[in-house]
Amino acid sequence: MPISRENLGSAEFLFDYGAGAAYVLGGMVKGISSVQLVRIAARAGYLAFFGAGGLKLDVVREAVLALASDPGHAAPWGVNFLHNPLIPLQEDALVDILLAGGVRRIEASAFVQITPALVRYRLTGLGFDDAGKPLPRQRILAKVSHPEIGRLFMSPPPDQLVSALLHSGRLTAAEAAAACKIPLADDVCVEADSGGHTDRRPSFALIPAFVRLRNEMAKQYPDLPKVRVGAAGGIGSPEAVAAALMLGADFVMTGSINQCTPEAGTSDVVKDMLAAAEPQDFDMAPAGDLFEIGAKVQVLKRGTMFAARANRLYDIYRTHAAIEEVPPAVLSELENRVFGRTIADVWQETEAYYRQAAPRQLERLSPKQRMAMIFRWYFIHSQRLAQQGMIGQRANFQIHCGPAMAACNRWLAGSSLEDWRFRHVDVLADRLLAEAAQVLEQRYADFGMR
Ligand SMILES: Cc1cc2nc3c(=O)[nH]c(=O)nc-3n(C[C@H](O)[C@H](O)[C@H](O)COP(=O)(O)O)c2cc1C
Repeated sequence: MPISRENLGSAEFLFDYGAGAAYVLGGMVKGISSVQLVRIAARAGYLAFFGAGGLKLDVVREAVLALASDPGHAAPWGVNFLHNPLIPLQEDALVDILLAGGVRRIEASAFVQITPALVRYRLTGLGFDDAGKPLPRQRILAKVSHPEIGRLFMSPPPDQLVSALLHSGRLTAAEAAAACKIPLADDVCVEADSGGHTDRRPSFALIPAFVRLRNEMAKQYPDLPKVRVGAAGGIGSPEAVAAALMLGADFVMTGSINQCTPEAGTSDVVKDMLAAAEPQDFDMAPAGDLFEIGAKVQVLKRGTMFAARANRLYDIYRTHAAIEEVPPAVLSELENRVFGRTIADVWQETEAYYRQAAPRQLERLSPKQRMAMIFRWYFIHSQRLAQQGMIGQRANFQIHCGPAMAACNRWLAGSSLEDWRFRHVDVLADRLLAEAAQVLEQRYADFGMR
């Protein structure tokens, strides 16, 4: 049988998600993975996740309603579900929206521990088929880079969380009793060097390690359905898709390349910048949402000063105990060159947000935490400037992206998709997978196997 789009990767994946290919479009924050992006991909049979991170819950609710009506619940789409260590109650509120809206799939990411909200989403409505096989109503695709977190997602939901949810009436006795019959996630997608949050591990090392971990876990829990392993990070060419599958991935996921498509919820200016990116045009910067713990994001470097400015903010944060301790000359440099407004204005805006979202947290802030909140404002602001395409502020654009984008630009140079305006997400996925199949066929032929 010739290799084709339909038989690249796991057949069970296609069955479980109602997808036409073992290819996933990862969620991109603040609706960059827009309703339109998810709709077009899902209509073509590609599993795609709406970028709910950083959006108000009302906006997510509206997106869910829009996707439930078109492409509808049977199509392969879901919502990105980010761990929220700062405001844990928001995870619960998001689960309420997802369950009420009939969302059957989430892409769980940034988790450092398993939370009650995640377990409730997974177990609500869990039943069994006629043969006694567990039939989860909701599926979880977990995106991880650390084996210990991968192990948690490959295990059944933790007993103590299940008991607590049962006792608080948030799970039924039947749902709680069935919990030990399924792993927390159906799929664990290994995130290597990628756009956005990344600890930049190489796929060559990560994918085989996770495939072995999955095989070990299958031995430890022989009665549970087998968890699939996916590959994300650095995939922007047919050769990369083929390599990920040869390393043992059951499916592949892309992110960066989908940001440079007509459907992505960002500005044309950003898409023009991305379409010109070369392999050396990326840099690491602190992550705004996890600023205090020093987490990093990969961003586009060419044409913006964001990475340099954000790294400077992090250095100032590390070396001072409070904003009042920062020398006046440095503060005025920040106000004029980075924030474009006074620190007092930034604080006023930040405080107003938190007074509404988490008033009790606001009262307990230490001076250092207050400084972190002021600096974090820049990360929200710089992302907004890029998304809105404020060309005069290009130096502050924060554009999450990884070198997969450059590989994609090189691959498509001189083709009908050279101009991003033609790179519709479904067309891009079709071509990527069709050519990946050709790459594999060719390699087998090179080795004298066809
Ligand atoms: C602009 C952008 C925003 C992203 N936002 C999120 C997000 O909110 N949640 C998430 O789980 N992953 C996010 N990611 C990661 C992608 O879903 C995907 O895992 C990653 O981009 C794959 O690696 P690649 O960029 O090398 O293709 C983002 C990636 C990009 C490029």
